Amino acid sequence: MALLELRNISMEFPGVKALDGVSLELNEGEIHALVGENGAGKSTLIKILGGLIPAGMYAGAVMIDEQEVRFHSVRDSERAQVRIIHQELSLVNEMTVAENIFLGNEPRRLGVIDYTAMNAQAGRALALLSSDIRPGELVSELTIGAQQIVEIAKALSRKARIIVLDEPTAALPERDVENLLGLVRDLKKRGLGIIYISHRLDEVRSIADTVTVLRNGKRISRFTRGNLDLRSMVRDMIGRSLENAFPPFARAASDQLLTLRAVTLYHPHHRRQKVLSEVSLSCCKGEVVGVAGLLGSGRTALLSLLFGVYRGSHTGELRFEGKTYIPRSPADAIGRGIALVSEDRKRFGLVGAADIKENLSLASLARFCRHRIINLDAVAAACNRYVESLQIKTPSLQSPVMNLSGGNQQKVVLGRFLMTAPRLLLLDDPTRGIDVGAKYEIYRLIHSLSAQGMGIIFISSELPEVLGVAHRIYVLQGGRVREEFKHGEKSEEETLAVAAGISAA
Ligand SMILES: Nc1ncnc2c1ncn2[C@@H]1O[C@H](COP(=O)(O)OP(=O)(O)OP(=O)(O)O)[C@@H](O)[C@H]1O
Ligand SMILES: [Mg+2]
Repeated sequence: MALLELRNISMEFPGVKALDGVSLELNEGEIHALVGENGAGKSTLIKILGGLIPAGMYAGAVMIDEQEVRFHSVRDSERAQVRIIHQELSLVNEMTVAENIFLGNEPRRLGVIDYTAMNAQAGRALALLSSDIRPGELVSELTIGAQQIVEIAKALSRKARIIVLDEPTAALPERDVENLLGLVRDLKKRGLGIIYISHRLDEVRSIADTVTVLRNGKRISRFTRGNLDLRSMVRDMIGRSLENAFPPFARAASDQLLTLRAVTLYHPHHRRQKVLSEVSLSCCKGEVVGVAGLLGSGRTALLSLLFGVYRGSHTGELRFEGKTYIPRSPADAIGRGIALVSEDRKRFGLVGAADIKENLSLASLARFCRHRIINLDAVAAACNRYVESLQIKTPSLQSPVMNLSGGNQQKVVLGRFLMTAPRLLLLDDPTRGIDVGAKYEIYRLIHSLSAQGMGIIFISSELPEVLGVAHRIYVLQGGRVREEFKHGEKSEEETLAVAAGISAA
């Protein structure tokens, strides 16, 4: 008997058929992955199961233990022991971690909330996730990765039979990904039914028992562990075969754009601790430079320094466009033509109520101004170009950005920075949460920007991406450059060995 059955679900938004007769079955102790392009309908399906989209708004039936259930609110679905961790986190920023975990479910003594018990229980739930987040911390102080962990602790601290994770690893630091996957396997062992949404197909392959592929709101295919073939899965997701993961590209030019000579970066709080030691590197005009390294290798600190947001001090020499460059603030960096697309884009990136055109052009309106008049046609034309090249799935430029699917919102933020036409673009994990087909388009875009002379420094939590896209790669380990090589000269295994400090260069 199936634990959960979604039967022939259809759902329409104005101008968009988000789901078209989708069916799915989930059993106890099963991990069922849901994959598909950005905008395929995955989150919509989950919102129906979670009561965010109430019964009456969709066609078809949700069955639990072969009984139809009709959820009108999140509370209804929680009562049926369904727990959902949504793609857009839904914690209350002004509350503590413990208050969030127990929101609406607080342990009480004599009628009042028992904070001591609450903090202790929250501490235990977090420890289960091997996290050192303190229950008393305010959620607003946490990184996105930490907030994700709190969401998971919240879901786990209540009784559940069905758990849904909508892209749980998209904002999770790498070191927590394995941890999370282990946890999901544990839940499976305990007999829970799990729906797992991710764009990282390696994750899907490693944990899924069953995979359902959606495209344009329709169920295209279903794979089981035994017949799981990534190539066919990708074909079904994007509607065409992807022969190569990365597009070919031309060689870079050799005009120096940015050089670092013996740059040492000190920890903002522990002044003697070096985050980077004696780092020398360069990026030419028209060159894509990849920086590979594990978490804690200094990758992110490097980009923060270049963008003027690093809090600690540094020594050594930086030059940008032939002049000494002392990064002071993001405004300073932007003024010089340096842009950063970072992992915080989810939090700071978008103006939800504004439309796509406004969000895209926000940072580059000055470029479209002559004599204080904005050339609106030119703005619209530029926006249309980016909607096309990034494959942003939307009925029009006038749709509010909050109506877009998660991955498409992310493309809008990326597009916004690209539109500022920087001379040096710093990319920190630009394809997280983006589907495989659109990733390919983003790589193509990166190459076409570099071909126009832009210098690009690229870091990613996915090593194959760095190796596949960059002209030249530096490997950081323990804050030092351990290796530098050209595209194609080193394999993933060799690079990993250097990044992990196993093999000396
Ligand atoms: N509130 C809304 N109003 C209008 N359209 C919406 C709304 N929510 C979703 N859509 C549209 O429904 C379609 C499916 O979106 P959904 O969020 O389910 O995609 P997804 O598969 O989760 O994508 P992603 O991988 O990017 O998260 C998209 O075309 C999206 O723009
Ligand atoms: Mg989604």
